[in-house]
Amino acid sequence: MGLMGAGKTAVGRRLARALGLTFTDADCEIEAAAGLAVRDIFELYGEPAFRDLERRVVARLLEAGPRVLALGGGAFVDPRTREAVRRRGVSIWLRASPETLARRTARRNGVRPLLSGGDPLATLRALAERRDPLYAEAEIWIDGDARSVDEVAAEIVGRLGPRGRPHLPDRDALQGARKP
Ligand code: S3P
Repeated sequence: MGLMGAGKTAVGRRLARALGLTFTDADCEIEAAAGLAVRDIFELYGEPAFRDLERRVVARLLEAGPRVLALGGGAFVDPRTREAVRRRGVSIWLRASPETLARRTARRNGVRPLLSGGDPLATLRALAERRDPLYAEAEIWIDGDARSVDEVAAEIVGRLGPRGRPHLPDRDALQGARKP
């Protein structure tokens, strides 16, 4: 989790590869469920409808088995989603300054409805102020400013330890299995 431009998708992909897990991007799943791009859902049905769909899709994905899941920046604002993540996952907050986020999101201008129109840097600052106290509930905080995707993914692998490998039997179970 983290704000738009934090690198959730890029880092999530790399992390999933390192851990031998599937990667799922919640926004892509929402788009598949709706048959519409995120910006079109916002435009045609409004943000509350998007949030409702987001909560239901994320709840389904959290029940769908071990994976690296990149949440859209606003997903963790929903208290039910926060509770579901707490129960089912290990939460990681990718942090970056509003200036870095504004620079990165400017590259794919237009795909993020909350940043189209107005001043993206001011919007990101306001979102950070509102959301950071919620993101701070994440178990692992990672600084993603001025670091490569590889470096960030490697730090997460280290910080997760055995919790990053829920699909593999733990060492004790393996040793037990080898005993006569
Ligand atoms: C949003 C972030 C977007 C997307 C939607 C709303 C937000 O995802 O879910 O545009 O509220 O921060 P990314 O964080 O992956 O850009």
